Amino acid sequence: MEMKPTVMVLGTGRAVPDKVLTNADLEKMVDTTDRWIVERTGIRERRVVEPGIPLSELATRAALAALEDAGLSAADIDLIIVGTVTGDMKFPATACIVQDRIGAGKAVAFDLSAACSGFLYSLQVATGLMATAGYRHALIIGGDVLTSMVDWDDRDTCILFGDGAGAAILGPASGDRGLLATYMRSNGAHNQLLYNPGCGSLHPPTAQNVHEKIHTIRMEGRDVFRHAVLAMSEALQEVLSRTGMSVDDLDLLIPHQANLRIIEAVAKRFGTSLDKVYVNVDRFGNTSAGSIPIALDEARRSGRIGNGDTVGLVTFGAGFTWASSILRL
Ligand code: ACO
Repeated sequence: MEMKPTVMVLGTGRAVPDKVLTNADLEKMVDTTDRWIVERTGIRERRVVEPGIPLSELATRAALAALEDAGLSAADIDLIIVGTVTGDMKFPATACIVQDRIGAGKAVAFDLSAACSGFLYSLQVATGLMATAGYRHALIIGGDVLTSMVDWDDRDTCILFGDGAGAAILGPASGDRGLLATYMRSNGAHNQLLYNPGCGSLHPPTAQNVHEKIHTIRMEGRDVFRHAVLAMSEALQEVLSRTGMSVDDLDLLIPHQANLRIIEAVAKRFGTSLDKVYVNVDRFGNTSAGSIPIALDEARRSGRIGNGDTVGLVTFGAGFTWASSILRL
């Protein structure tokens, strides 16, 4: 039983840096091979910012593209949420910087921390606020500059990540088009399997701990992999059940782009072929909160999906956090 949607996507946009870092480039930096990276992750290259380019730069570009796509101006936006763990600064929120850059004077703006789940969490929070606080148009952005916290000497992690941001404009639903179901979960018991210990109130930066690279990503890859497959499968099943749909009813499934093997394992559990699943991890690596909105925008603009199509979105990230949505465009 489908619920009548209240909110729909009016436009999308994305921004990735021009600079490409290939597996061959990484072979010169750490003890790895293109073959190992492709076999274990499906990643062939990723985009990385030039030094000094912050998230707000990518987020602003993605936001302006989404506004143009929606046919709206920044003055129409009531709410801005940026899902990220790599904001420009500890404070103010990157959402406030984006608000200023695009000129969304009347909007309320804040960031949301849910790692790779940042965009889908933002989607659900915005939908809730639009229902209860009277906001008509929301700009939600998912993006990260994870290369700012990568240890380029750690081959376990440095091969995985890239930079990028995607955005969507939300507005009142029209007919049966819109957000049909959403689901969010967290489990803090696993907060030590994927984390960045440094530079928060636990370990304020010192010359010593920065030298020890406390500001870089720590990850237990195999555990994360296992949890990601289970949680993404559970989340996808939940929104399918809530809408009375099966995977066959989806025109496209857009999973978080962390690792091709995770994507394949989830698809296999639902008995669906990769034809129905969007994959761009080969070109962008894991862009964290940017992954789903970048893929959504690519899929729309390339004509792979269009108005009226039904799309499943599912993600998993540090926390752990996980989430899913079904969207009729
Ligand atoms: N190049 C060559 N060898 C490597 C590399 C590398 N870049 N990295 C690790 N190895 C070696 C290891 O040292 C190990 O060697 P050993 O057997 O001599 O000890 C061997 O390769 C196997 O290592 P594993 O960690 O078992 O390899 P695995 O198949 O699990 O792949 C990977 C590792 C790719 C990190 C995988 O576990 C994974 O993708 N996990 C999910 C992590 C993830 O996606 N995190 C992102 C954030 S969360 C999210 O977005 C879902």
